Amino acid sequence: MNNKVIWITGASTGIGKEMACAFSKAGYIVVVTGRRKSRLVNLVSEIKFAGREASAFVCNVASERSVQSTTKRIFEKYGRIDCLINNAGVSIFKNFLDTKVFDYDYVMDINLRGSFLCMKSVLKTMIKLRRGHIINVLSVAATTVLENSSVYACSKAGLLALSNSVRKEVRKYNIKITNILPGAVETAMWDAKTRQKFKNRMMSPEDVANIALQTFEQPKKVLIEDIVVRPLKGDL
Ligand SMILES: NC(=O)c1ccc[n+]([C@@H]2O[C@H](COP(=O)([O-])OP(=O)(O)OC[C@H]3O[C@@H](n4cnc5c(N)ncnc54)[C@H](OP(=O)(O)O)[C@@H]3O)[C@@H](O)[C@H]2O)c1
Repeated sequence: MNNKVIWITGASTGIGKEMACAFSKAGYIVVVTGRRKSRLVNLVSEIKFAGREASAFVCNVASERSVQSTTKRIFEKYGRIDCLINNAGVSIFKNFLDTKVFDYDYVMDINLRGSFLCMKSVLKTMIKLRRGHIINVLSVAATTVLENSSVYACSKAGLLALSNSVRKEVRKYNIKITNILPGAVETAMWDAKTRQKFKNRMMSPEDVANIALQTFEQPKKVLIEDIVVRPLKGDL
């Protein structure tokens, strides 16, 4: 058993949930957070049933207070956060004219501001300890021009800029920041029809989870900065 603590946001379903399973199987302590408590509690029960340590906390990344209190609770319980995985995210696939101000605020608050808040909440301690790893889950939409994705792309491109800039500031303290930019993954982020149609073509959430684990397990001196991973047959 490894005593390193991995905090995964948005772990109630999809990629985040599979990351929790992958890191846990590899022996790490996982802390899973999200808004849907019952899903998180079920996930932790499964992990504990397999004899491993895990905790669940309700955390809405769009709320500064929620992020701060969750960070505090993790430090109180385990005394450390070795890796933060900023995975929580939402998408809205609409053309620009149909995109409401509400849609903009919703997506930006969770995808960009939420990741900003979570990074801020752990970095001070990481800098003090001169160690830590932050893995941000972005999307190929951060760098690829796609239709009907303007606000989603904007949130992920913003996170890419934020992440790259923070990385430059903190690498001198031995802190690693990695961006993972996945293409289509078969999760609830897609509507049922699209999911059914492209099921065989999309990557699985386990594929992305294993990439995050491999990224974290690189030698001390090695930093994987950015990973772009797509289905073999390309974007949908
Ligand atoms: N699926 C894809 O094709 C794809 C491709 C590229 C990138 N991504 C990225 O991968 C990440 C995970 O998405 P997914 O595909 O696994 O979809 P998903 O199954 O819908 O998972 C999204 C997760 O984010 C959480 N979440 C949403 N709003 C939140 C909030 N305000 N506070 C905390 N957690 C919140 C959800 O949990 P609660 O609802 O319980 O809070 C859920 O666990 C996202 O950042 C997404 O942009 C996905």
